[in-house]
Amino acid sequence: MGEAEREREACGCGVGRREVVLGAALLGTLPVVAAAAGNERRPKAGDVLVHSMGPKKGKPLSVEDLPPGGPGMLAFPMDPATGTVLDGSRFNEVVAVRLDPTALSEETRKGAADGVVVYSSICSHEACPVSMWNEYEHMLVCSCHGSMFDPRAKAKVVFGPAPRRLAQLPVKAEAGVLVVTGPFDGRIGAVRAA
Ligand code: FES
Repeated sequence: MGEAEREREACGCGVGRREVVLGAALLGTLPVVAAAAGNERRPKAGDVLVHSMGPKKGKPLSVEDLPPGGPGMLAFPMDPATGTVLDGSRFNEVVAVRLDPTALSEETRKGAADGVVVYSSICSHEACPVSMWNEYEHMLVCSCHGSMFDPRAKAKVVFGPAPRRLAQLPVKAEAGVLVVTGPFDGRIGAVRAA
């Protein structure tokens, strides 16, 4: 199964973004395709996180940008060699939350930087954005059906229909800026029953 098919299956989209891009290729816009393909690759070590929206969109995301104790902020990885923001696939969008480092589980802390944990923002139920925050229980919340994920414990599911935790993206802080140290530690997106 190709990436477009996997993405469509996971998010329920009618037409994958890659298919749209390839359609453009047939109209003779090959350079556009090359650029688009480059911004769809998955995050890897060395990528820099940047704001995905708001007045700082495209700017590096620093530890200090994140309010202690939440809520989180949405971000995309950026390839520092080319300056390309990897926003060609919503599967690359992540949510970063700054928490008390001592509150993190040992496994979670291994991928955290100064208390900042970063997870895929794609819910494992039906792939809606995990873009909300429960300020009382300090949980990440899915915007569709309210599944809650504990950011202190590898984003395990603590409420709702999501069948699986969110994948963690390991990071470090370099001069305060969040830098990816490896790939997602699990599958991203929803898994449909056969
Ligand atoms: S899509 Fe997230 S709980 Fe349903």
